[in-house]
Amino acid sequence: MFFPGLVGVIAARTRLSEVDGKAGRLIISGYPVEEFAGVATFEEVAYLLWKGALPTAQQLADFRGAIAAERALATVTLDVLKAAAGKDIPPMTALRMAAGTLDLQTVKGTTPDGIPLENIAVIARFPTIVGTYWRLLNDEPVVEPRADLGFTANLLYMITGQEPSEERTRGLETYLNCVVDHGLNASTFTARVITSTGSDLISALTGAIGALKGPLHGGAPGPALDMVFEIGDAANAEAYLRAKLDRKERLMGFGHRIYRVRDPRVEVLSAAAKRLYERDGDMRLYNLVADVEKVAVRLLAEYYPQRSLQTNVEFYTALLLHGLAMPMELFTPCFAISRAVGWIAHCQEQRKDSRIIRPESEYEGPRDMRWVPIEAR
Ligand code: ACO
Repeated sequence: MFFPGLVGVIAARTRLSEVDGKAGRLIISGYPVEEFAGVATFEEVAYLLWKGALPTAQQLADFRGAIAAERALATVTLDVLKAAAGKDIPPMTALRMAAGTLDLQTVKGTTPDGIPLENIAVIARFPTIVGTYWRLLNDEPVVEPRADLGFTANLLYMITGQEPSEERTRGLETYLNCVVDHGLNASTFTARVITSTGSDLISALTGAIGALKGPLHGGAPGPALDMVFEIGDAANAEAYLRAKLDRKERLMGFGHRIYRVRDPRVEVLSAAAKRLYERDGDMRLYNLVADVEKVAVRLLAEYYPQRSLQTNVEFYTALLLHGLAMPMELFTPCFAISRAVGWIAHCQEQRKDSRIIRPESEYEGPRDMRWVPIEAR
């Protein structure tokens, strides 16, 4: 049997997350996403995913301390980032290059809770890579990580050089919580395939970053926002979107392999964006995004009546992150910073299964060809 795009194929059993595309429900380690995304810290969610239970206050304090202690980058990583900045390499590519330099050989042992320190080192250093690279790219002094700040506040601090307000931290934390894990998506599958060969964690994560980077997966929010800016006014939306659909182009931020109804993360992120924009943002942009969404969903139903193409997580990600003054180039790196927690959890699960992931292909080329010597070709 051939399953193009592996549609409908179940290739892993997991306790990490459940994506119910018909009901529009996302469960993370037992908790519906809307239950915790707007109130939890990112460290709590990471702990939940890795340990399968919420931390006590003491466990959380220890976990936060362990992450804060691992934020510094080795010279080799800094050298790669400096060289990449000198060549104006895009941040997501720089993250992939720098992630490959993380040497976890020296990070041995576990926390008292049994969490491998190499897992902690990865999630501690990804934000430092992104923050450091952004400042190098913009010829600004690099900001050292601050151990007294939580995961999300420290990330914003390293990018901007300023301690963020609670409101901004909450906005970004809500986003990070929403995208921490999502079933067997393309980047997670990549990480699991690499792990299934017996390869190491950094190889799995580097491959996963490569998969996430693509515009059909984690690279959609920048183009989604560009599309809204190009539309500029709700009155232009229908003509603009129709022209795109007539050219068979995809509308970024819409459609999903699994969801047939609105992605539940869209509700959480659009509510977070609304709170942010109502306080100190450009409500005109918020309203424009909502108007473009309505027209896009209506037109997608008209062009693809069999598919039920709905708004996906990336559409309101773009609005929320833009409202937090996050540069568009860092949208996908922020996604990677969060999803790394999910990738690592899946790698741990995959290691318990000794079977290599190795599907088959159906050959459709010629057979019985006769070899022609090079001088006779
Ligand atoms: N805009 C226009 N047409 C679309 C869209 C879209 N956003 N999504 C699907 N379609 C069309 C396809 O062109 C295809 O048409 P065809 O049958 O004439 O070729 C039809 O709907 C079926 O689409 P598939 O490619 O089968 O859908 P699939 O489940 O394979 O793809 C995907 C899902 C990649 C997310 C797709 O909907 C898409 O490209 N969306 C835009 C990019 C995007 O927003 N990506 C972020 C996804 S969320 C995430 O990864 C975090």
